[in-house]
Amino acid sequence: MKAERESEHLRVLIRRASIERRVRQLARKITTDFRGDRVHLIGVLKGASIFLSDLIRDIGLEVSLDFIAVSSYGQSTRSTGQVRLTKDLDTTIEGLHTILVEDVLDTGLTLDYLQRVLLQRKPRSLRLAAFLVKAAPRVKQIRPDYVGFEIPDEFVVGYGLDYAERYRNLRDICVLELPGGRDPRPPIPPSLPR
Ligand code: IMP
Ligand code: MG
Repeated sequence: MKAERESEHLRVLIRRASIERRVRQLARKITTDFRGDRVHLIGVLKGASIFLSDLIRDIGLEVSLDFIAVSSYGQSTRSTGQVRLTKDLDTTIEGLHTILVEDVLDTGLTLDYLQRVLLQRKPRSLRLAAFLVKAAPRVKQIRPDYVGFEIPDEFVVGYGLDYAERYRNLRDICVLELPGGRDPRPPIPPSLPR
């Protein structure tokens, strides 16, 4: 295990300063889009927690917060296609301007599932914010309203994103390179509808 970790290599993709600048821009956009209103932010645990905590501090509106958790990846790093709610919201979103905040949009399965679950609960509006969006062959076509960065189809860590629960605390977004150029993700299961 230790030997394997030592041969993992991190290549910086997005530096801390660019992240800070971009998150501030997104927060300003949200502030103007909802001018004068209250917004309710829902973070998808655990990856979005760092993005969310930076974002809210630059939103100049009345803001409330909640968290939701899903499982789809487990210890592995590619979606099984099965999304399951593992922690529900604490409070109702009925009648609220709601923004779902996610760390990265890869296949789109997670956001597609959560969007459907949340819309059933009659929010006043529902928008999606994704810190990263991958240029990947998506399973579900989802276009978030707020996007931090579009990135190549590579496995990244840092700023909340993990590899087997590690690297969430990195300040930069880094591509995780494994020995021998291995992709950390197993292939998308062929059973998934495309
Ligand atoms: P999707 O359902 O395939 O769109 O994947 C979304 C979830 O997969 C995210 O919430 C992440 O937890 C995880 N994920 C996808 N790509 C990456 C990555 O490059 N690094 C870390 N986690 C990822
Ligand atoms: Mg996640």
